Amino acid sequence: MSAKGDVSLGKELFTRAACVTCHAVDLKEVQKGPYLGSAGTKFTRDYLIQSVLEPGAVVAPGFQTVMLKTRNRKSYTGFITQEQDGMVEVRDIAGMVSKVKASEIKSRKQLSFSMMPVGLVGGMTTEEFAALIEYLASLKEK
Ligand code: HEC
Repeated sequence: MSAKGDVSLGKELFTRAACVTCHAVDLKEVQKGPYLGSAGTKFTRDYLIQSVLEPGAVVAPGFQTVMLKTRNRKSYTGFITQEQDGMVEVRDIAGMVSKVKASEIKSRKQLSFSMMPVGLVGGMTTEEFAALIEYLASLKEK
C-alpha cells in the first residue's frame, strides 16, 4: 500500500472511529477536545500512538477533566477554559460552555482519567491503526 493510500484510509477511519466527534482538524470547526489540525507538526508518531491507545497515560495540558459541584447541587464535568472575575467557565466534551460563579462552587475535583474513551481502535486491524496514525502525522499547519 502506498503512503498516500494509508493517509486517505486513515482519514476515513478518523470519521468512522468517531474521533471527529471530539477532535477538530480545522480551526473553523467547533473545538471540543484538543485540536489535531497540526498533530503532525506538534507530535511524534510515538506520542500519537500512545495517545490513541492509552488516553489516560498523558493527558494533554488544558484538557484535564474537572468536576465541579455547586451549592444548588448542579454538577459540571469538563475542561476549565477560563477563570476570571469570580466566574469559572467549563466546557464539556460536546463543546457546551457553562459559566459558573466561583462563589457558588462547593467542591472541585480534578479527575485522573481522560475524557477520551479507551478502546476506540479495538476493532481495527494493524493496517487500519497504522493508517490512522499516518493520517494524524500528515496533519500539518498550512
Ligand atoms: C469523547 C471524546 C473523544 C473521542 C471520541 C476521541 N478523543 Fe482523542 N482526546 C480527547 C480528549 C478530551 C483528549 C485530551 C486528554 C488526553 O490527552 O487524554 C484527547 C487527546 C487526544 C490526543 C492527544 C492530543 C494532545 O494534544 O496531546 C490524540 C492524538 C487523540 N486524542 C486522538 C484521537 C483519535 C485518533 C481518536 C479516534 C480513534 C480520538 N482521539 C477520539 C477526546 C476524545
